[in-house]
Amino acid sequence: MKKDRLFIAFEGIDGSGKSTQVKMLLAYLEACGHKVYPTFEPTDSRIGRMIRDIFNHREEGDQRVIAALFAADRLNHLLHSQDGILKKLEEGYTVITDRYYLSSYAYHSVYVPMDWVADLNRMSKSLLRPDLTVYIDMKPEVSMERLSRSRQNIEMYETLSHQVNVREKYHEAIERVKDTENICIIDGSQSPEVVHSYIRSAVEPYV
Ligand code: ADP
Ligand code: TYD
Repeated sequence: MKKDRLFIAFEGIDGSGKSTQVKMLLAYLEACGHKVYPTFEPTDSRIGRMIRDIFNHREEGDQRVIAALFAADRLNHLLHSQDGILKKLEEGYTVITDRYYLSSYAYHSVYVPMDWVADLNRMSKSLLRPDLTVYIDMKPEVSMERLSRSRQNIEMYETLSHQVNVREKYHEAIERVKDTENICIIDGSQSPEVVHSYIRSAVEPYV
């Protein structure tokens, strides 16, 4: 199971604790002597900025266009010649991404068929599948409460009813890909330290 190039994706609804856990896993892996490159989607590229402009209501964007922009942002995230994920893996980094194509399956299939979203992401999937996807499962009532305590701006997708739909779609997406992807489901309702200990146990066989 040990890999010399490791790619880990974190998934979950907004406020499920992904970025907290990415930081904790990064610190742990670095302390073990690994070179780690943390990254995230939507990225900071121009395509990522277009997505954020739509989310912040500065630009109009049909849901099909948003799904396509995310697919383009992801390809650029993989293929960029300097800081693309493939390049970083080639340089010997363990790459941890906060969101990858399972996010697209879940968020966009609330509006368009999941098959269509899967087609849009087929190229990314054939270029690079995560060695491990960590899905942090969380009741939307709890994550929304956490977000409302920590954020001033609530984005387009951050309403309770939408997060309920997205969580259902995540479960549908996991069911769909579970035979071909390595996904570990973590209960995100406990303290950050306890959640981290579960994630560590899931990652340890690979490092
Ligand atoms: P995400 O990246 O999934 O949106 P964050 O890691 O930013 O989620 O967490 C959202 C909020 O919840 C932050 O204020 C964070 O400090 C808090 N938080 C994260 N994990 C936990 C946890 N296990 N228990 C309580 N609060 C948490
Ligand atoms: P998020 O991880 O919350 O970034 P930030 O911390 O900058 O707000 O992602 C922003 C939103 O993008 C979030 O609601 C999930 C959504 N999203 C999609 O709709 N499709 C995707 O493919 C990805 C990666 C994210």
